[in-house]
Amino acid sequence: MKVLITGGAGFIGSHLADELLSQGHHVLVIDNYQTGRVENNTQHKNLTVVEGTIADAALVNKAFDSFMPDKVVHAAASYKDPENWEEDVYTNVLGTVNIMRAAKKHNVSRVIYFQTALCYGLKPLEQPITLNHPLFSGKSEGGSSYAISKTGGEQYIELSGLDFVSFRLANAYGPRNLSGPLPTFYSRLSTGKACFVMDTRRDFIYVKDLVGCVMNALNGMGTRGYYHIATGSDYSIKELFDSTIKALNIKLEKDVEVRPRGVDDVFTILIDPSKTNKDFNWKASTPLEFGIKEAIEWYKLNGITQTFTHLKQIEEKH
Ligand SMILES: NC(=O)c1ccc[n+]([C@@H]2O[C@H](COP(=O)([O-])OP(=O)(O)OC[C@H]3O[C@@H](n4cnc5c(N)ncnc54)[C@H](O)[C@@H]3O)[C@@H](O)[C@H]2O)c1
Repeated sequence: MKVLITGGAGFIGSHLADELLSQGHHVLVIDNYQTGRVENNTQHKNLTVVEGTIADAALVNKAFDSFMPDKVVHAAASYKDPENWEEDVYTNVLGTVNIMRAAKKHNVSRVIYFQTALCYGLKPLEQPITLNHPLFSGKSEGGSSYAISKTGGEQYIELSGLDFVSFRLANAYGPRNLSGPLPTFYSRLSTGKACFVMDTRRDFIYVKDLVGCVMNALNGMGTRGYYHIATGSDYSIKELFDSTIKALNIKLEKDVEVRPRGVDDVFTILIDPSKTNKDFNWKASTPLEFGIKEAIEWYKLNGITQTFTHLKQIEEKH
């Protein structure tokens, strides 16, 4: 297969590139390194990397014309500055439109997208959330530029008429992950800074489990439309913190402070993976403690200079 991966230098995109290359496929990555890292892609004879933004239609068209992909995994996303609505629209909406126009022109046989579960709003009407849940149920106050623009992008993918699978994801974690609570805990704990945890719960999906499901989709399993990738059960952020402490083999003098969540945050997001389990013959299998250990090993080796979040109410940036 020839697979074009936008955001292929990022966390999820680079793991997928590694897996595809290890199976003998050809990969072209487009990334502007907003939140990705050059080092996430190891040089390989079947790998081409294009540095640039998907908001640039000429750059996107040139990449498609030269690589002629069979399939596209659209993993690029903008989210790191919640006030920069323009960048979110350029990347998540216009960038997606550019990708879909080029994918249509080249008759790409499948496009895979990663959507945030925040598309269901901040106050979901059910737990676990099923695929029938309305987008932005109307009961959600707040929301974010990230969730709005990602949802706009997702709708253009459907509008294109091409075959697509949009995976709405639980919180992915693992080596190379620089967003969410785990890298923040690691970078604070490893530099002797105090931590706090929010009173929220999340379903954590290990990146290699996630990649396994995406590979099944690239190999033709599943049908056009929407799916959830999740384990189906949630943990409190305090439990995640406690496992991090354990993996780092440190003992704190007092228990970590638990803080109320911010206005644009949601208490728990449990999304129902049953259709994915069935259609992709797939189930998440990595235990949280193992995944945390793997992530921490990577942080120790590679360091963290920056972490990213789409949330507004966040501790001081570092
Ligand atoms: N990680 C999660 O838990 C999670 C949850 C829900 C959805 N997603 C979605 O999964 C996808 C991958 O996320 P990730 O966790 O790997 O994040 P990431 O930040 O590691 O990867 C995103 C990549 O896109 C690149 N990028 C940003 N703007 C770009 C542009 N204009 N042109 C080209 N490249 C650009 C970044 O540099 C980065 O390498 C994203 O679409 C994200 O919205 C992730």
